[in-house]
Amino acid sequence: MKEYTNYSLLNHNTFGMDVEAKRFVEYDSEEELIGLLPSLESKYLHIGGGSNLLFRGNFDGTILHSVIKGIEIQENCGEYVLVRVGAGVVWDDFVAWTVERGWGGIENLSLIPGEVGASAVQNIGAYGVEAKDVIVQVKAIHLKTGEKRSFVTDECCYAYRQSIFKNELKGQYAITYVTYKLKVRPTLKLSYGNMKALLEKKNVTVSDVRQFIIDTRNAKLPDPKVLGNAGSFFMNPVVSRDKFQEIQKDYPQMPYYEVENGVKIPAGWMIEQCGWKGKSLGKAGVHEKQALVLVNLGGASSEEIVTLCNAVCKDVKETFGIDIHPEVNFIN
Ligand code: EPU
Repeated sequence: MKEYTNYSLLNHNTFGMDVEAKRFVEYDSEEELIGLLPSLESKYLHIGGGSNLLFRGNFDGTILHSVIKGIEIQENCGEYVLVRVGAGVVWDDFVAWTVERGWGGIENLSLIPGEVGASAVQNIGAYGVEAKDVIVQVKAIHLKTGEKRSFVTDECCYAYRQSIFKNELKGQYAITYVTYKLKVRPTLKLSYGNMKALLEKKNVTVSDVRQFIIDTRNAKLPDPKVLGNAGSFFMNPVVSRDKFQEIQKDYPQMPYYEVENGVKIPAGWMIEQCGWKGKSLGKAGVHEKQALVLVNLGGASSEEIVTLCNAVCKDVKETFGIDIHPEVNFIN
């Protein structure tokens, strides 16, 4: 176990906020985590790769970080494999590991920043696939009692970027292991946006899909090492069918996706229509290639990011009558 006081979080948040934690603890096993629980202050936060956080200032409590590693095949029935992965494994290392073996299920989730534990909290998603599609079990430890608990997928209450770990059980459990079900003979999902180009090719493999996703993401999304950011800053709103038709009259070219409870409209598109793409307020900017991403242009304060966020939300509301909400977690 590693423990630090007044620890810089610069390398633990992709937004590049130069803030400190009063105490920072990194553990690499379930036993270590259980052992440190009695000393946990009332204010604590469990982080993963810090790729979905905006620290509003120094953190006056304990930050927990898992470095539980290991990728273990639990079952291989010829048709699918069950793989148990430590919460501290870097997500994309795991994706690369599955793709090397030719197994299918998470190739569309290539290059998403963050760690395995967070994939199960956040229900990460991209290019028509969500983590919930492949998660079969989540193991976790209750941070007050030390009780170990397993959650099957249904118990995780997954929805778009949502889970029980972000809602009813927020802050209560630390995820230690996640088990994924992957297909030995992959069925590729190529229906999202520009992925359809792959349909024209023959014998497309999971490696081809991974490469395509990596190229697409690299072309649109800023590298946090160069330009601080936390990926999509906002969630895509779902509006009623009536509301959608009303907007479509004025914007017939508007992109959209039909979903169960209405129509999802890309917030990035609305932000671009409002003229924000590539614009900035102080040192906070709207990314020039993907308006859903807010960026730290260098030394931005969290206040500057929040001011920009509020200005963008206000304009989207005034133009389209739609409320958009941050996907990024604000940490006080
Ligand atoms: N669009 C614009 N202008 C923009 C951005 C997008 O017109 O500045 C349009 C695009 O042309 C496209 C549509 O909006 O027609 C959707 O854009 P894109 O495919 O880039 O996806 P998104 O809805 O903006 C979501 C996820 C991303 C994920 C992509 C691909 C959320 C909040 N974001 O973005 O996830 O990579 O789909 O599946 O759902 C993340 O969570 O950090 C993230 C990057």
